[in-house]
Amino acid sequence: MLDTSEAIHPNKSGPVVIQEAWNTPGALKSWRQEGEVFYLEGERARLVLVFLNEHTFRLKLYHSGVPGLSTTPAVLPQITDKVSIIVRNQEDQLIMDTGSLQVHIVKSDLSWMVDDREGKRIARQNLISWNPRGLSNAVYDMPAQSHFYGLGEKASFLDKRGERYTNWNTDVFAPHMPEIEALYESIPLLIHMQEGGSCYGIFLDNPGRTDFDMRSHSGAYSIACHTGEYDIYFIGGPDMKDVVSRYTALTGRISLPPKWAIGYHQSRYSYMNQHEVLELARTFREKQIPCDVIYLDIHYMNEYRVFTFDPVRFPDPEGMMAELKELGMRIVPIVDPGVKKDPQYPVYREGVQQGHFCRKLEGDIFYGEVWPGISAFPDFTEPNTAKWWGDLHTFYTKLGIRGIWNDMNEPAVFNESKTMDLDVIHGNDGQPKTHEEMHNLYGMLMSKATFEGLRRQTGNERPFVLTRAGYAGVQRYAAVWTGDNRSFWEHMALAIPMVLNMGLSGIPFAGPDIGGFAHHTSAQLLVRWTQMGVFFPYCRNHSALDTMRQEPWSFGEEVEGILRFYIGLRYRWMPHLYNLFHEAAETGLPIMRPLILEYPADRHVTNLSDQFLLGRDVLIAPVYRPDSEYRSVYLPEGIWIDYWTGEEHPGGQHILACAPLERMPMYIRSGAVIAEGALRQYAEEPLLPVKDALTFHLYGAKAENGFQADASLYEDDGVSYNHEQGQYSQLAVRIAGREEGIELAYDYQVRTYAAERNHLRFVLHQPGFEPSRIEGLERLNAKQLAAGREGWYVEAESGSVIMQVQDGMEGASWLILR
Ligand code: GLC
Repeated sequence: MLDTSEAIHPNKSGPVVIQEAWNTPGALKSWRQEGEVFYLEGERARLVLVFLNEHTFRLKLYHSGVPGLSTTPAVLPQITDKVSIIVRNQEDQLIMDTGSLQVHIVKSDLSWMVDDREGKRIARQNLISWNPRGLSNAVYDMPAQSHFYGLGEKASFLDKRGERYTNWNTDVFAPHMPEIEALYESIPLLIHMQEGGSCYGIFLDNPGRTDFDMRSHSGAYSIACHTGEYDIYFIGGPDMKDVVSRYTALTGRISLPPKWAIGYHQSRYSYMNQHEVLELARTFREKQIPCDVIYLDIHYMNEYRVFTFDPVRFPDPEGMMAELKELGMRIVPIVDPGVKKDPQYPVYREGVQQGHFCRKLEGDIFYGEVWPGISAFPDFTEPNTAKWWGDLHTFYTKLGIRGIWNDMNEPAVFNESKTMDLDVIHGNDGQPKTHEEMHNLYGMLMSKATFEGLRRQTGNERPFVLTRAGYAGVQRYAAVWTGDNRSFWEHMALAIPMVLNMGLSGIPFAGPDIGGFAHHTSAQLLVRWTQMGVFFPYCRNHSALDTMRQEPWSFGEEVEGILRFYIGLRYRWMPHLYNLFHEAAETGLPIMRPLILEYPADRHVTNLSDQFLLGRDVLIAPVYRPDSEYRSVYLPEGIWIDYWTGEEHPGGQHILACAPLERMPMYIRSGAVIAEGALRQYAEEPLLPVKDALTFHLYGAKAENGFQADASLYEDDGVSYNHEQGQYSQLAVRIAGREEGIELAYDYQVRTYAAERNHLRFVLHQPGFEPSRIEGLERLNAKQLAAGREGWYVEAESGSVIMQVQDGMEGASWLILR
């Protein structure tokens, strides 16, 4: 037999050993400075440093090509501060000193170190190298007592030391386990906390596959990218809050959502028809369980064609929307990126004719299978495609729909690689790149196109977008839910550190499917998960096809009663919650916080993954095991007041909390002020003004010299953009202890918006403190207060002092005498 050359095919000679040549930049040959930008010429590569301000610099490695300083869409157009940089050119180092950071470049190998203002070393990159296949890797010092946070949506505990992760947006139906390295979202921000609590952040702005390895080396961690450029931002602290707020200055913050978007949401895969949706809405109202939104999952569509309704299941969307409007219930429909290949379907036809779908280099459209069968995928990197897609949403907005749920936007494809072919070429507004280089941006760009489309169509109303996939900066356009978890107690527990790290990674508006998506929930799991979930920023109950029903009434009256109470609590706490959303929009700080953010010096909280803070003042300790009526709770420094019993506990200790099924342990920081509103069935439910008092709960106010507490509450109409035109109010409450009693004052610092209400109430939670009198206020009884009079009384059961006053423009103050 004759052999062809195939006989010597390389595949036949066993594994090939490739001697990988790893390159390094070599020694510094020359450098120049242009304002805030430094160009360093090494023997084999260039480094470019850009100082954005005195705390943040960008460092980009070029081993080929001409240095360009454009960024991905994650980074906001940069307003570079004028930074005065003192340069010291020493024999072995080039030092750039911003006053807050000193960057030392080692001339012999272009490694670098960062010192803080006091000259203390805070970071060191030892080695940066790359191989001919395009992988770049840098190694950083990892001292023994240091911890890691951030990295967005990852499984496992809060502290990421000892973990290794990949960023590659992936549709992971199962399993969500600590060993899973990549989930739906990629936020390549790592926060490194050193002993004593001082932090810096490194953001790698590369939307291809990237790796963060805090496991494989002792004493070092590494950050790698598989394609594209090594382009990092070093973000100085020293507080973790500084890092989060500077990172979000770079990649953006949430825009204040409409209040209905932070209510309770009910979803299922799927509510199958119009009748079922309306029944569901009526049941919520009949049962007086508050709810703002019902989601329409994929069955609402005509054979899963986006921008359609199934004519049999949903014959009359207008009629359905009209009745829902009466009930104060909103609809958020799912919109996936896959457009069914069907020449009869106008969206597909238009997409092909106008060239909106992703293509291979050779010009063929990329097709992949998703719910509708063979589908094409819009190229959201192209501005005109993004505009086209956004405009298609008039289909929904003309029905009064103001929120859209983006799913499967990793993009997920039912094939071996689970996504789009890597050699698809994205147009990228004239700078074509492969899908391999841009993969992690797909979901965020879809949400951007959606948000901007809605924004063009909804006039002065704030829209809402929910997304599964995303990249750094996604927070500007969408809230994020954590994908297909299961009704496992372990997944309930996993959601805490996952959403906490998302909050530290710039995504404060996030939450899991409450009750669990796949598998079957149980009465206890649903109770415990809802108790916890009402204190997560995003609060939606969602479950999969063929699983146990998990609407709040699915497990009988006892469970229903508990869920009604907790969901109601979220609505009563809406003013407090909304204030925290406003703070997140202004500062980037998370709504739901790990204790380490507020207590960085406390070694008990570096990896505390089963408790969290709502803002600064409320400690939530969910029960995440079946049949557990007790759990241990760690209280950090200060005094903490049991929300249920009023008992005071000194902090700095572990306590055993009693938690029968109807009670989730909650503690309020002594000195805190919690704003509570009326119980509504939906965020914008109109109430009689007299019922709509705003109550400030004052915890732990002391009639002692030196005691001081203050708080401030932001309010606006909760639905329009008028606040951007200056229509909002900012109400300040001040409490000061005196020997003779407690001085309480409030005033409006801004009041260009006035909530409809007549009264303010103040509740002093301080059992045993019974005032002799309150100057300027009459002592009355509960009934007289309920009738709308100004005055105060002591509630018999709790011993709390309740004051009711007119809500006056000018503010007022009182002396509450012992
Ligand atoms: C995906 C989503 C899930 C949704 C389902 C059907 O699995 O993650 O939330 O219900 O698709 O659309």
